[in-house]
Amino acid sequence: MSSIIKELVSDPHSSEIISLAVGMPDPFLYPLDVFQRILENMPATNPSDFGYIATEGYLPLRRTIAHMLSSNGIETTPERTLILSGAQLLVLPTEAGLNLEILEDYLIRYRPKLFYTVSTYNNPTGQVLTEQERRELLLLARRHRLVIVEDDPYSQLYYEEKPPLPIKSMDSFEGVVYIGTFSKTLIPGLRVGFLTGHSALIHRLALEKQYVDLHSNNFSQWLINFYLEQGYFEDHLNFIRSEYKKRRDSLVKAIRRYLENNVHFNVPGGGFYLWCKLKGTITSGRLLQEATKCGVFFVPGQAFNARPTEENEFRLCFASQPEPVLVEGVKRLAKALEILQKSKTPRKISESFLKPIV
Ligand SMILES: Cc1ncc(COP(=O)(O)O)c(C=O)c1O
Repeated sequence: MSSIIKELVSDPHSSEIISLAVGMPDPFLYPLDVFQRILENMPATNPSDFGYIATEGYLPLRRTIAHMLSSNGIETTPERTLILSGAQLLVLPTEAGLNLEILEDYLIRYRPKLFYTVSTYNNPTGQVLTEQERRELLLLARRHRLVIVEDDPYSQLYYEEKPPLPIKSMDSFEGVVYIGTFSKTLIPGLRVGFLTGHSALIHRLALEKQYVDLHSNNFSQWLINFYLEQGYFEDHLNFIRSEYKKRRDSLVKAIRRYLENNVHFNVPGGGFYLWCKLKGTITSGRLLQEATKCGVFFVPGQAFNARPTEENEFRLCFASQPEPVLVEGVKRLAKALEILQKSKTPRKISESFLKPIV
């Protein structure tokens, strides 16, 4: 079963099975035509931009990102911005077990009592912290010297009114580390994300990153920087917002029609995901097992929790499939549920089925 997961993660369109599992933009919406034009008319570039560069990242892109963030209320500088290979989190380096020296170093420098949050259109729940909650969280962090890590891949993907500004925009004491990525808004395979925070943190993270990959791919950084500088991004965002809004609405409509009374959910104002709860006694793991036989796939809620929690939750991604496929996926889900409701034997699902996916 884990090989099916692998296949679906690499390409949600590669199989007869409909994947509502992987949190990926639809590859057919990538702005490849624009990238092709950029590469065909390759603008004059300093060849050394494609050699080894600073671990912190390609300076013109760091400038562009700092400028882009300022339009979202975040005051930062290129020096306080680090380019990442996507927005996967950097973790405290450990040798065999925990290195107390490094931990102490982190304790003294960064007081690593940190609070991690996907503040806007959470993955998997779709929830958004209100402006009030953001301000209160920040006050709390200040009082307790807590570092907030704000992971924000989805806030530009809003389908109603704009969400509140990032917590980072309200941060007057450098208590928030803000992480962004182009994976959900542009192309995940370019592997370009970024982090902004206190300059001492950037310096320390760059030291660690140097040992991991020296620097992130600078051809991708160059390409994204040119794309942003030329002003293509806003049009693309408008295009995908309107497309994903339609997809979200189609999925919601199909669930109300075919799964009515069986599933509870809130309609998210943005992002990629619908977080669902089964109303009866059937678990999401059991549903997944039957759904796979019926030709549809999703992520059960347990995959997102370190500790076992309610077993009736699951996540559907509406971004990676076109509307008719979403509707067909829901019909197959409804069929799977009907089969389970008619049969009485509960069956356990294997652990490998429940591994977290992006
Ligand atoms: C909340 C959140 N953070 C970070 C990521 C990582 O994205 P990437 O490493 O592709 O930038 C994801 C992807 O699913 C995500 O949902």
